[in-house]
Amino acid sequence: MKKQVFEGLSSAEIDEINAEMSHYEDKMAVSIEALKIVQKYRRWVSDECLIAVAELLEISPTQLEAVATFYNLIYRQPVGKTIIHYCNSVTCWMLGSDQVQECLCRHLNVELGEMSADGEYTILPIVCLGACDHAPVVMVGDELRLDITEDAVNEILGR
Ligand code: FES
Repeated sequence: MKKQVFEGLSSAEIDEINAEMSHYEDKMAVSIEALKIVQKYRRWVSDECLIAVAELLEISPTQLEAVATFYNLIYRQPVGKTIIHYCNSVTCWMLGSDQVQECLCRHLNVELGEMSADGEYTILPIVCLGACDHAPVVMVGDELRLDITEDAVNEILGR
């Protein structure tokens, strides 16, 4: 079978997405996994990549964009190597998540959602992480960090 070229995607990405598609009848069902595959290689999904994935899945870019927007762990703009998600659900909010976010952004000199100048970090909100009894809570990459204080922020950022 002739391999089609989907501009903007690497052959490794195309192979992985095709392998994922072989498990499903409905190509829409593969859309999140396909976006995650692209994100694994690039850390975020550009417009060019989103259009290429839509072509590969034979769905419209608008449909795929809707999926990407709904799923808040797909990043549509460049992000740092480590994403720090701070929980902004009610318990964390009551116990200072706004201050945690302000402290993280101030130390990194970034706005929420922006990548730090050294490309290391991006700060983003996330819903309840299920550790409300240790609020406020953040996820540093895959690591859950509890009872966050300004000292903890300094320690997380190595300052
Ligand atoms: S509200 Fe933040 S962990 Fe539940």
